[in-house]
Amino acid sequence: VIISDARVAPLHGRPLARRLRRAGLATRLVTFPAGERYKTRRTKERIEDDLLRLEVGRDAAVLAVGGGVTGDLAGFVAATWQRGIPLVQVPTSLVAMVDAALGGKTAVNLPGGKNLVGSFHHPWGVYADMEALATLPEAPFREGLAEVVKTAAIADARLFEWLEGSLAPVRARRAATIETMVTRCIRIKRGIVERDPHEAGRRAVLNFGHTVAHALERVSGFRLSHGAAVAIGLCVEAGIACERTGFPSGHADRLERLLDLMGLPTRLPPTLDPRAIAAATRSDKKRRRGRARYALPVRLGSALPGHDPTVEVDDRELLRALAALRR
Ligand SMILES: NC(=O)c1ccc[n+]([C@@H]2O[C@H](COP(=O)([O-])OP(=O)(O)OC[C@H]3O[C@@H](n4cnc5c(N)ncnc54)[C@H](O)[C@@H]3O)[C@@H](O)[C@H]2O)c1
Repeated sequence: VIISDARVAPLHGRPLARRLRRAGLATRLVTFPAGERYKTRRTKERIEDDLLRLEVGRDAAVLAVGGGVTGDLAGFVAATWQRGIPLVQVPTSLVAMVDAALGGKTAVNLPGGKNLVGSFHHPWGVYADMEALATLPEAPFREGLAEVVKTAAIADARLFEWLEGSLAPVRARRAATIETMVTRCIRIKRGIVERDPHEAGRRAVLNFGHTVAHALERVSGFRLSHGAAVAIGLCVEAGIACERTGFPSGHADRLERLLDLMGLPTRLPPTLDPRAIAAATRSDKKRRRGRARYALPVRLGSALPGHDPTVEVDDRELLRALAALRR
C-alpha cells in the first residue's frame, strides 16, 4: 500500500504504483490532503478505513511516499495496523531524506502540540531517489537545508566546510552535489540512531536548535515555518553554547553566515516576545522536571560528549542569547 499526500501522489506515488504493479506486486494507492494540518488522528482514521475497505492484511507493507508529514503519518498507520506491518520509507522532500524518514519516529499532532501521539516503528528500508527533489518547491527545499546545517554542526566539521564551499551548486540543486550532501547526512543520522534507536540518551544531539525552534513555532502561532524556526533556533542555541560549552564565537559566526547564505533567517523576528519564547521552551517535549534541555555543540562538528549531551539552561541565559539576535 502506497500512502502519499495529494500533491506527491500524482508526481511520485502513482508512477511508483505503476512500476510495482508491472513488477507483479499487488499495489494500492491511498492518499490524504497535503499539509501539516492533516497530520492528525482524523486523517489516520480515514486512511485506516481505506485499508479496511481494501482488505489490507498482515501480509501487506506500507510504502510512505512523500515528505515528512507522509512519513510520520503513514509510518504511524503501519505501526498500528493489525498490530504493526512492515514500513518502507520513500522520502521525496529534503527534510524527509536527511531526517524524517530515518530513525523510526512516527506520529500525528494533537491540537495541543506536535507529534504527541505516535510510536517508534523502524522502516525496513529507506529509498531516497534524488530525482524526486526536482519537483520540490523552493520553500520546502530550504527547510531541508536547515536540518542539513544542523547535522553538520553537531557531527561533521568536514561536511560543514564542504557546505561552505558548495553553496552555489547546493542552491542550484546540482544532482551530484545534492546526492553527496544527502548521503553524508543519512550516514550521520543512521550512525546516531542505530546506537540509540529509542532516544534513550545520545540521540538527543539531533535536537540542537530545536528546543528554541519549537518555542518559536508555537509563539508565532505556527506562522514561522519549521525550517525558519530551526535556522533561528540554531543561532540562538549557538549563542548559549558560546557561554556554556566554550563553543567558539567564530564558529557561531560561521554557522550564522552559512544559514544566511542558504536563504534562511538568522535574526529574531521583532514581533516575537522573548519572555513568551522562554515560557514556551518550558513546555517542550524534551523538558525534564519542567526545565528545558538543550543539546549543544562544543565546536563545529562536535556535540557535548557522553550518554546525555544536553544541559539545562535558565531563562536569563536564554534571554541574553535572544537579545543578541535582535541586534
Ligand atoms: N520523524 C522524524 O524523525 C521527523 C524528523 C523531522 C521532521 N519530521 C516531520 O516532518 C514534517 C515536515 O516534513 P516536510 O517538510 O517534508 O513536510 P511535508 O511532508 O508537508 O512536505 C512539504 C510539502 O512539499 C510537498 N512535497 C514533498 N515532496 C515533494 C516533491 N518531491 N515534489 C513536490 N512536492 C513535494 C508536500 O506535498 C508538502 O506540500 C513535520 O511534520 C515534522 O514533524 C519528522
